[in-house]
Amino acid sequence: MKTARRTHGFTESVIRAMTRVAAQHDAINLAQGFPDFAANSQVKEAAIAAVRRDVNQYAITWGAKKLRDAICARYRFAYGMEIDPEREVTVTCGSTEAMIATMLALVDPGDEVIVFEPFYENYGPDAILSGAVPRFVTLREPDWSFDPDELEAAFTPKTRAIIINTPNNPTGKVFSRDELTHVARLCQKWGVIAVTDEIYEYILYDGAEHVPLASLDGMAERTVTINSISKTYSVTGWRVGWALGPAELTSAIRKVHDFLTVGAAAPLQEAAAEALGLPDSYYETLARDYQNRRDALIPSLRAAGFRCFVPRGAYYIMTDISTFGFPDDVAFARNLIEAIGVAAVPGSSFYQRSRGEGRPPARSSGEPGRSPGGEGRQKLRFAFCKKIETLDAAAQRLLRLSKPGARR
Ligand SMILES: Cc1ncc(COP(=O)(O)O)c(C=O)c1O
Repeated sequence: MKTARRTHGFTESVIRAMTRVAAQHDAINLAQGFPDFAANSQVKEAAIAAVRRDVNQYAITWGAKKLRDAICARYRFAYGMEIDPEREVTVTCGSTEAMIATMLALVDPGDEVIVFEPFYENYGPDAILSGAVPRFVTLREPDWSFDPDELEAAFTPKTRAIIINTPNNPTGKVFSRDELTHVARLCQKWGVIAVTDEIYEYILYDGAEHVPLASLDGMAERTVTINSISKTYSVTGWRVGWALGPAELTSAIRKVHDFLTVGAAAPLQEAAAEALGLPDSYYETLARDYQNRRDALIPSLRAAGFRCFVPRGAYYIMTDISTFGFPDDVAFARNLIEAIGVAAVPGSSFYQRSRGEGRPPARSSGEPGRSPGGEGRQKLRFAFCKKIETLDAAAQRLLRLSKPGARR
């Protein structure tokens, strides 16, 4: 049976595939980025109360007023940003929908969109669905900085948007104010829209600071800020997110959102409003607990032979697996599940050259002649959004890798 060409380039998400294989082998899942611990009870009670109050019908398509007000109050309090809840907010089904609705609303087929590589894997399909031509700019290890000249060279008259994800999945990079200022200057020079995915904004380590790109001079009018309650409140299954942007852009995003999903779950929007009102101590504990989890996992990974790129934000550790002598990351990830029962994500899923046929004709601004999969072929990403007990159990299993005979 014929299916649409636009779907032919999609392969099953590698991250979700690893989660499935992990379940088959009863492995500890450090692949997909969802917490295995409880969410805040006040937020859960708010969801229960909303269902009891019969908040059962469609909310306003661009978001319940209470939630839009709470979002704007939070940005005002945290960053001094003034956002109009009536004209500049669209509540969506997670940041996943916010991103695709934004791309469909703002990008015409053939427009170029700049994406930093490695990148969160959804940005590839988002580009395919919107017809965008991605141009990749390399984040260079070990600190995942970019070459300002390479970024500058990626801007052309066809560039419509640039996607920034800070704090970054998979690298843990937190873009500095200087880096963002450079991005802002280029966006202004070329008339380009910035789309920022900031869903790890409160998960920061070692004094790192999150700077919303929209808070920089002259950027509020050309930035769409995407976020959700998934990571900050440990409720990835609730599917409530938002896109914030100037009224003209928001009006187009709202139209696409309306036809895609009508709206996010109404009772969970009520609970999201409650979550956004949690005190500072909630966010401090969130970051501190994640730092403890990070610091618990890194020594075990190092002892097992992984070279770790220590994250400054988000909840992933990107590692280099070259000491293990495997030809590629996918074989290594499968072996890790089958041999010791720990699941992680192959690094190549965050690099464009590893994707199958049918990807948009990417003209990478990175080095020519890199092997398929790029540097990702010797990398593996571990998620540490897990209970300390889960991480301890994974550490025990990882120890087996340091035993003689565990390597090729
Ligand atoms: C960078 C990034 N953006 C978006 C998402 C998806 O977020 P949501 O649950 O809000 O759709 C994830 C999930 O892992 C992510 O890492």
